[in-house]
Amino acid sequence: MATPLLGEHFKNIRRLVHAACAGSKIFPSRHLRAGKFRGMSKGDMAQPLLSSKSDKNYDTSVDSLGTAVVILGSGDFARSLATRLVCSGFQVVIGSRNPKRNANLFPASAKVTSREEAVKKADIVFVAVFKEHYSTLCDLSTVLEGKVLVDVSNATEINNHKKSNAEYLASLFPGSTVVKGFNVISAWALQSGPQDGNKQVLICSDSPEAKNAISTIARSMGFIPVDMGSLCAAREIENVPLRLLPLWKIPVLLALCLFVGFYVYNFTRSVLHPYLQENKNKFYKIPMELVNVTLPCVAYVMLSLVYLPGVLAAFLQLHHGTKYRRFPDWLDQWLIHRKQIGLVSFYCAALHAVYSFCLPMRRSSRYQMLNDAFKQVAEKKNSAWVEEEVWRMEIYVSFGIMALGVMSLLAVSSLPSVGNSLNWREFSFIQSTLGFAALVIATIHTLTFGWKRAFDGNQYKFYLPPTFTLTLLVPCVIILARIVLFMPCINRKLVRIRRGWEKGRDVLDGIPLP
Ligand SMILES: Cc1cc2nc3c(=O)[nH]c(=O)nc-3n(C[C@H](O)[C@H](O)[C@H](O)COP(=O)(O)OP(=O)(O)OC[C@H]3O[C@@H](n4cnc5c(N)ncnc54)[C@H](O)[C@@H]3O)c2cc1C
Ligand SMILES: NC(=O)c1ccc[n+]([C@@H]2O[C@H](COP(=O)([O-])OP(=O)(O)OC[C@H]3O[C@@H](n4cnc5c(N)ncnc54)[C@H](OP(=O)(O)O)[C@@H]3O)[C@@H](O)[C@H]2O)c1
Ligand code: HEM
Repeated sequence: MATPLLGEHFKNIRRLVHAACAGSKIFPSRHLRAGKFRGMSKGDMAQPLLSSKSDKNYDTSVDSLGTAVVILGSGDFARSLATRLVCSGFQVVIGSRNPKRNANLFPASAKVTSREEAVKKADIVFVAVFKEHYSTLCDLSTVLEGKVLVDVSNATEINNHKKSNAEYLASLFPGSTVVKGFNVISAWALQSGPQDGNKQVLICSDSPEAKNAISTIARSMGFIPVDMGSLCAAREIENVPLRLLPLWKIPVLLALCLFVGFYVYNFTRSVLHPYLQENKNKFYKIPMELVNVTLPCVAYVMLSLVYLPGVLAAFLQLHHGTKYRRFPDWLDQWLIHRKQIGLVSFYCAALHAVYSFCLPMRRSSRYQMLNDAFKQVAEKKNSAWVEEEVWRMEIYVSFGIMALGVMSLLAVSSLPSVGNSLNWREFSFIQSTLGFAALVIATIHTLTFGWKRAFDGNQYKFYLPPTFTLTLLVPCVIILARIVLFMPCINRKLVRIRRGWEKGRDVLDGIPLP
């Protein structure tokens, strides 16, 4: 008989997996090998792909059902995986150290047996035990020879240099093919099915055939397999579930620091100063008023920090006369975090809007209004209308609403489903042009809110200027810088640099010198 083609057996597995989905009764061949099929004999090839009930190695109850898959371990993950595999048409065999005790934890159609018996039943073996217990499987190395071992384990800490769990498993079982996969899916997500939570299953292996076979299983379970390359990618895959929103850490920390800073500043000005200087009790401002002065400051400063790195990048490009020079690392990082900074800013602005709408509801506000009315009556005034104040408030509230409206557009377009439906020009128009417009509108809102108070000496408490004056610094610098960058002589040069022109080179790709 001719030597089998490399990978022929993996093709068989794929066929078998497809067949399982169609409720077929065929079985995977034995002696799968990573690429090489070491130890495969003519006798092996002579074995029929469609195994018969007389096959001594297979349990007859399994034989009569769909494609068999083995799971080693009977814990949370094994149970959820078994349930999902059974629902997807697979015949599941569980290998447990204590099959009798654990049998009733699994779906009735799954067979629970000893570990050694189980691994004889199929060529694909999910290893659902912790890495620390892999060595207890070494007794099975002969029966695991030639099989595909799926390592579903997670690491306990972020790994940058060490061997991954999957590589460790491969080193323990050199005669088997190891595939890393399913570790990014939680037992809960497996049980509730792929309609909830993340659908992506990251898969890697040194054997493309084994990877394809496991991808096919993942697909038939309703997940989306993502090929991450060779087994060394397992280090990266094992790190995925350990990460906690990596791009959000800096923006959230920044927002917290700004919040604390502005809150202390506002507390000193609005509560501490009246208490120490005038013996007035203004502590009631702590939960609402101070928060509603602090939140917009954070929102506004963070919004300006979204557009500052673009301006710095532009000036650096003008200075170097090229776009091909790398930005310093801090600027690169800043540019990468803009989306998250912007969304945190939007969140704070939205909270500020809700707080603002609730301000008149407070009892303190009602008492204040009544007191003002009593005072007016005592002073025999019959109108409290101040035209300038009326206009100021109409304008600043209206601009506040507009700024939040434009920021909402940016936030909506940052949703992947919406962003994907926009072309690059539309997305960049919303993010860059409308985003900058939001910054300008928010600046008008803040300026009209502050009005002449920046020049009123009574507003300087402990020599501290009103908070809004501090928040205006960065946005005003950005707006001025953007005006400078928009001047035709500078803008022309910047556009050319961004199209590939470089200082010191006369003509590049037909783009003449400015
Ligand atoms: C509510 C909200 C939601 C947001 N959502 C998103 C989002 O989903 N996705 C997103 O990306 N941003 C998002 N942002 C951030 C922000 O809107 C965008 O980053 C916006 O494009 C920045 O505009 P810009 O004009 O400052 O800079 P850009 O439009 O990025 O850049 C101006 C120019 O600078 C140069 N440049 C920029 N970055 C680099 C770089 N790394 N290397 C070399 N040149 C560079 C380019 O030549 C570019 O033409 C959001 C902001 C907010 C407030
Ligand atoms: N739970 C999750 O959401 C989840 C998500 C992704 C990945 N994972 C990974 O899946 C694997 C199993 O996790 P789990 O949550 O199912 O854990 P678990 O509930 O603790 O189950 C682990 C199983 O390993 C076996 N085992 C326990 N001690 C052993 C020992 N000393 N020697 C040999 N085998 C032993 C047991 O099976 P028997 O008694 O039947 O032999 C036990 O049921 C882990 O590698 C984990 O990282 C889990
Ligand atoms: C529906 C939208 C908005 C409404 C109704 C609104 C309303 C208000 C009100 C009532 C104040 C005065 C707060 C006080 O005196 O306690 C204020 C201040 C302020 N708002 Fe807004 N606003 C809105 C959106 C925004 C947005 C989007 C930003 C910026 C991103 C912003 C930034 C500011 C700033 C910086 C102040 C000054 C805070 C201070 O120093 O006292 N606002 N706004």
